[in-house]
Amino acid sequence: MSELIIDGVWKEYGDQIVLENVSLTVASRAFVALVGPSGCGKSTFLRMLLGQERATKGTILIDGEPLPSEPGPDRGVVFQRYSVFPHLTVLGNVLLGKELTASKYKAKLFGAARRAAIEEARQLVAEVGLSGAEEKYPAQLSGGMQQRLALAQALIMKPKVLLLDEPFGALDPGIRAEIHTLMKRLWHETQMTVLMVTHDMREAFTLATRVVAFERPRDRPEEKQRYGATITRDISIWPPRRAGELSLSSPDRDGPVVLQGPRRDDPSSSPSGDR
Ligand SMILES: Nc1ncnc2c1ncn2[C@@H]1O[C@H](COP(=O)(O)OP(=O)(O)OP(=O)(O)O)[C@@H](O)[C@H]1O
Ligand SMILES: [Mg+2]
Repeated sequence: MSELIIDGVWKEYGDQIVLENVSLTVASRAFVALVGPSGCGKSTFLRMLLGQERATKGTILIDGEPLPSEPGPDRGVVFQRYSVFPHLTVLGNVLLGKELTASKYKAKLFGAARRAAIEEARQLVAEVGLSGAEEKYPAQLSGGMQQRLALAQALIMKPKVLLLDEPFGALDPGIRAEIHTLMKRLWHETQMTVLMVTHDMREAFTLATRVVAFERPRDRPEEKQRYGATITRDISIWPPRRAGELSLSSPDRDGPVVLQGPRRDDPSSSPSGDR
């Protein structure tokens, strides 16, 4: 459960201004989708929230405190690919975060603590739909299964903020719809505030409570270095979605619009329409 306040943040790499004057307040348990053209700094923005990159200017507060300058267990992350370790099994991947925090140097858990962690990891593996695959290695899993594993790996640390960088971008549409359902459930059932970068507007409007667009207001070739991207649109989803309130009447389905009485929701009320 966490509120984020991003205030007047700039990010420059050498002479290149990537982000300029970005300000955004994210309510606790919101699900914010970040969209924008390729190269406009969305991943850079997420990396700053993770603590992998520092803002050149401006402040980022998490629950009123300055963001720690390094990644920590309060912020989980899932990337489009490669966020799981190929040489560890499914269970090993999920356990890893626990092991690393238990013993910084040995990365091992012992006795009752280890048994409890394994039990917790098994439950989470089941929750993301990977029961039976505990002893498999990532190369033996499909892309969708690997992303489920990456989610479990992030979730075992019970992050207050979950950062997702196009986590479902490489998946086939059918698998993506399934994982959307899982993502919605996880968001409803946990206390997380979620920020997700996506190229897919439909995905943004399917999952988020709010869609925030980054854009470079000045984008001529000679201006690219000197002007960064900033937030140009900020759209709240209507009707509002709230974590913990799984609503049958909110437009959060993935499938095509089929109006079948009051139990069916109507994605056409979202600005993404039914593309
Ligand atoms: N470590 C770095 N050093 C120098 N420049 C960088 C670094 N990381 C990112 N950039 C530059 O910052 C800009 C924004 O990159 P970023 O990856 O954040 O964009 P993005 O919006 O995530 O793009 P995409 O949608 O393609 O993933 C790019 O011009 C990139 O070259
Ligand atoms: Mg990116």
